[in-house]
Amino acid sequence: MISQYEIQDSALSQISLALRQHEPPTGILPLLTPWLTPTQIQEQLISHINDKLNLSAGYKESVWRSIIRYIDASSAPNDGSEKPEPCELLVELYAECMCANMMKMAQNSRAALPTADAGVDTLVQYTSTPSSTFDSGLPPIQVNEQRNVFAQGGCTGHRTWEAGIALADFLLESVEVRADSSCSKSSSTMILRPGQFRHIIELGAGTGLVGLVATINLQPKKITLTDGDAGVIAALDKTIILNEPLLAASAREIQKLHPSLPRPEIVTRTLWWNQDKIDENDATGLPDLILAADVTYDPTIIEPLIKCIDYVFNLVQTRAGGSGPHVLVSATERSVITLARFKTLCVENGFTYNVVRSYQAPILSNFFYFNASMSPKIIIFELTKDTTQV
Ligand SMILES: C[S@@+](CC[C@H](N)C(=O)[O-])C[C@H]1O[C@@H](n2cnc3c(N)ncnc32)[C@H](O)[C@@H]1O
Repeated sequence: MISQYEIQDSALSQISLALRQHEPPTGILPLLTPWLTPTQIQEQLISHINDKLNLSAGYKESVWRSIIRYIDASSAPNDGSEKPEPCELLVELYAECMCANMMKMAQNSRAALPTADAGVDTLVQYTSTPSSTFDSGLPPIQVNEQRNVFAQGGCTGHRTWEAGIALADFLLESVEVRADSSCSKSSSTMILRPGQFRHIIELGAGTGLVGLVATINLQPKKITLTDGDAGVIAALDKTIILNEPLLAASAREIQKLHPSLPRPEIVTRTLWWNQDKIDENDATGLPDLILAADVTYDPTIIEPLIKCIDYVFNLVQTRAGGSGPHVLVSATERSVITLARFKTLCVENGFTYNVVRSYQAPILSNFFYFNASMSPKIIIFELTKDTTQV
């Protein structure tokens, strides 16, 4: 039974996911405000945020400030219940963070100012595996993102988008790592297993969340993370180095369960759709899974994208003399016209599109926090072709 002085596990889990993802504090106040009275429960919330989530001092300062401002502005509820007051711990931590951040700013004051177009990197943390996957819990995936910049120099790949989070969520929902399945909680219609794919390729990989989730959980022999933007690829290389301890630990854990699986080779490269070719003589073999998330946002990029998928699909299908690769595309429905264009072009290029999962706000996930304002609806399509006709 939940005591009056305990935060519900499900609420604490959503709060933790949102804060680790560096969601704007004002946007997630509705998650926090039910836990500001009585004082004991507020203290429990503040201690959890401070001690368990490994957040930067800059972000914590903005979280504490948002809570204090909310409390200051709130009046006594009509139902006779207590008006929240900031607890001592909250006030102390806010003062501590402000001092630490002011000292840091003073130290950095002589450093070059960022250009108007450049964003500020924020270390964002994402769930890396379903909690039941391994006996030992693995750390989160860490990605340096520019959370407040939607497009830097015209490039949208420096933050993780909701369709990418949805595809990562779908992979985590679908993966069954243990051969005995005793710990599996797969709720997806698709069941994926480590080692099932030899070579995964991701198109428009951006920050790499989807690629890292696929590497850690599906353990292909090789994964090629591609993007058209050289700056995105340079950032992706740094992200892979940053996550090296996690990648090594997850490979060791998977090998305990599946000893024959080698540690995945991760390759990054620029690949401009319908222009650049893949390595057609790849020693590992051609891709057997194509992943792509939030790459249908602009009508002008959909045709090259489909042409690129079609090129890889036909190459694999011709070489293998049978079926083509699996293809999963995660699309945010920002405009009905854009999505209709995607579907039309799929059909014109001989693909059948099947919806394997759709996400509609409010989205409650065990693995990620979904910001409702960022995405009205996300659809994950599987593209297939009737290869008997070829
Ligand atoms: C909206 S971001 C999505 C990034 C990531 N998949 C996600 O979901 O967070 C789109 C990505 O596609 C890349 N991109 C756009 N047009 C491209 C093209 N024609 N060829 C290759 N990459 C492209 C961009 O550089 C960017 O990284």
